[in-house]
Amino acid sequence: MSNGDQAVVGIGQPAAVALKKNIVGLRMFPTNFGAGLVLPSTSFALWCWLRGDDHGVLLHASRRLVDAASSAFQLDSVIEGFKYDTGRDLTGYVDGTENPKGKKAVAAAIVRGQGAGLDGSSFVAVQQWAHDFKRFESLSAKEQDNSVGRRKSDNKELSDAPASAHVKRTAQESFSPEAFVLRRSMPWADGTRGGLNFVAFGHSFDAYEAQLKRMVGAEDGISDALYQYTRPVTGSYFWCPPMRNGKLDLRALGL
Ligand code: HEM
Repeated sequence: MSNGDQAVVGIGQPAAVALKKNIVGLRMFPTNFGAGLVLPSTSFALWCWLRGDDHGVLLHASRRLVDAASSAFQLDSVIEGFKYDTGRDLTGYVDGTENPKGKKAVAAAIVRGQGAGLDGSSFVAVQQWAHDFKRFESLSAKEQDNSVGRRKSDNKELSDAPASAHVKRTAQESFSPEAFVLRRSMPWADGTRGGLNFVAFGHSFDAYEAQLKRMVGAEDGISDALYQYTRPVTGSYFWCPPMRNGKLDLRALGL
């Protein structure tokens, strides 16, 4: 059930600490990148991402999961993600275009060469962003496109995008070393509030942190134009164990 198609499970640092185990590379979500913008860091022991198209089926699967885990874990929050149109953020921009594919995606997201129990695992950053739709809609179409660095109408990358444009801040090939991650973000909504539940898998958190650092302007004082209309409200790191014989391989946790 946790093979990634139906579910993804992530272990947070609090769970590793409770088990007195150190997963090399797992840490708490950093708050301070030295740029005057403090990011929320919300640490959780366990993250379970249940996947599917049917809300009813997902609700019952969640209930069963919460019940099954109740002797050790307390439910903190449930975020319902969904697909908007062909895979757009709620601002209307296509999200995921520059994701690595095939072997490159595996190389970006999956741990290798660390030994049994760690190889095949992944580190995931999860950040819930809340959009200010009124603020976003007050921007002209050109300002909106400039904030992302792509044209909403046809998803074309803008050659003249300002340095603050999101895709300029995060251009994966522009980092040294290159900072590739596998993003699997989804929109979320609660009544009329909404935003993006940002999810990025990496073989470590380093690429993600390098991107975040640029987004807050820690390198050159220029912060990501997305901040005009969206802010993170959570920030958590998890380690997704590898699979072995169809089950989670929890050897690294001594289980
Ligand atoms: C509300 C928050 C965010 C929104 C709405 C958003 C939206 C987008 C959109 C529309 C694109 C362009 C299409 C694509 O290549 O996917 C993009 C690209 C990208 N975003 Fe975000 N993003 C958000 C937060 C983040 C965060 C927090 C990170 C990492 C720290 C990030 C990393 C990236 C990367 C690596 C790319 C591809 C850059 C490239 O190599 O061209 N994004 N994002």
